Amino acid sequence: MNPLNPFVKATGALVVVLLVGGVILAYERTSAYQQGAPGLGMDLIKTNKELDETVAANAVPAPLPPSSPGGQLAVDAYKNVRVLGHLSSADFTRLMTAMTIWVAPDQGCAYCHAPQRDEAGNPVKDEDGYVVADLNNMYSDELYTKRVARRMLQMTMHINQDWQPHVKGTGVTCYTCHRGQPVPTNIWFNGPKEADVPMGELAYQNRPDPKVGYASLPTNTFETFLRGDSTTTNIRVISTDPLPAGANNRASVKQTEWTYGLMMHMSGALGVNCTYCHNSRSMGEWSTSPPQRTTAWYGIRMVRDLNGGYVEPLQATFPRERLGPEGDAPKINCATCHKGAFKPLLGVSMLKDYAVLAEAKPQPPKSPVEPVPAPEGAPATP
Ligand code: HEC
Ligand code: HEC
Ligand code: HEC
Ligand code: HEC
Repeated sequence: MNPLNPFVKATGALVVVLLVGGVILAYERTSAYQQGAPGLGMDLIKTNKELDETVAANAVPAPLPPSSPGGQLAVDAYKNVRVLGHLSSADFTRLMTAMTIWVAPDQGCAYCHAPQRDEAGNPVKDEDGYVVADLNNMYSDELYTKRVARRMLQMTMHINQDWQPHVKGTGVTCYTCHRGQPVPTNIWFNGPKEADVPMGELAYQNRPDPKVGYASLPTNTFETFLRGDSTTTNIRVISTDPLPAGANNRASVKQTEWTYGLMMHMSGALGVNCTYCHNSRSMGEWSTSPPQRTTAWYGIRMVRDLNGGYVEPLQATFPRERLGPEGDAPKINCATCHKGAFKPLLGVSMLKDYAVLAEAKPQPPKSPVEPVPAPEGAPATP
């Protein structure tokens, strides 16, 4: 066949166009973020598709319109408020509405508030099948969810007030963790104890587990480092002394594997790699680490504090089905807030629209009730 034949030429051109087009279409475009100085390879590379997915997964709900100022204080307007008594009743109602949207948008107020009951004592349901709250009984603490939510309010205020070295002015709201669900994603429980596992003594290793990026690292890394009682557990393993004779290098390979397990979790929780916080020339050296490592250091201390001070003590408040296989309360790790983003909700602050969650305030006493004069001419009460 003559290669100069116009038919052959046209077919050849078509093949070339298809090949080049195919290569262009198959090539996933990426974006790179450079963390360290040029040439250090401290880069974070993501496909644009991954970035688009992260943006979509972290959309923030529109804030409710601000409430009108003034009005009665919640402590006077209601019967049983112990954390939010200092708010105006308008701010209080706005926050209840926001909490419902953030935590229980389908179930509504009745997720935390006692149900309205019919004559037979059964909860009344709306046309969608959801239980309706009893508006005359909003003060009742009957449901465990309300008691947990009260503690959650205190925890949220504590994070925003006392953990600014980590959350900065951005802060958190219920939505940071809950994202429209009563049980947040990325909570954790104590794993089975080594003794309970057949063929024990694996040092919690060689069990593929997403906690540690499916690497062959110890799977009890959260119990080891993030529980309230782990405040003194040392994460550092690298010697600060160059000579083996020095007294400093006491860490074993095993301990190092625990540290790496935690580091895998932290990287995955933030959707970054190790060089987001470390210059890999020396993982231990602080002076060459990016500032994000310092933020992360505070993050570890904050998570321990939240678990030990707030969620672990709620164990007795939660019903059995909310507890882990070992009977422990659901707990927080980095991913409970971050959910794969370097900053939760990509750094958008919802707190600025809900400043009432920025700090706890002492609860004002109820205003004294104005004395009501007795009817004219009535004899004084004995
Ligand atoms: C996620 C749980 C939760 C949801 C959902 C919720 N609340 Fe509340 N509610 C609470 C908590 C906790 C308190 C007590 C606050 C305190 O102690 O300061 C409370 C207290 C109240 C009170 C004060 C009652 C009294 O007399 O003491 C009213 C009124 C109220 N809520 C209304 C509502 C309304 C209306 C809705 C639905 C739009 C709603 N709440 C949804 C948790 C919730
Ligand atoms: C730092 C993360 C975090 C924040 C912030 C947070 N929560 Fe929670 N919340 C949790 C965890 C963890 C649990 C335990 C999950 C479970 O109940 O199984 C939980 C449980 C709850 C429950 C019980 C749900 C159930 O069905 O068992 C309620 C109600 C709740 N939170 C309300 C709130 C409210 C209201 C706020 C904001 C004032 C809030 N939370 C803020 C992490 C958080
Ligand atoms: C989000 C930030 C962050 C990421 C990502 C991160 N680290 Fe770390 N890393 C830290 C912090 C903070 C410490 C110090 C903890 C402490 O002192 O309590 C640390 C400590 C370490 C140590 C111990 C250093 C010493 O002084 O002994 C090693 C080793 C380490 N990281 C390795 C890694 C590896 C490997 C990765 C990637 C899989 C990684 N890190 C990802 C923040 C991070
Ligand atoms: C209670 C929610 C919460 C938890 C839990 C949490 N963080 Fe954060 N973190 C935040 C918020 C909010 C910010 C954004 C602060 C800001 O705007 O600079 C943040 C920021 C960071 C940053 C700075 C990112 C940057 O690019 O500047 C790092 C690093 C980080 N967190 C690591 C961690 C690690 C590691 C853990 C677990 C040990 C953790 N966080 C747990 C809420 C949380």
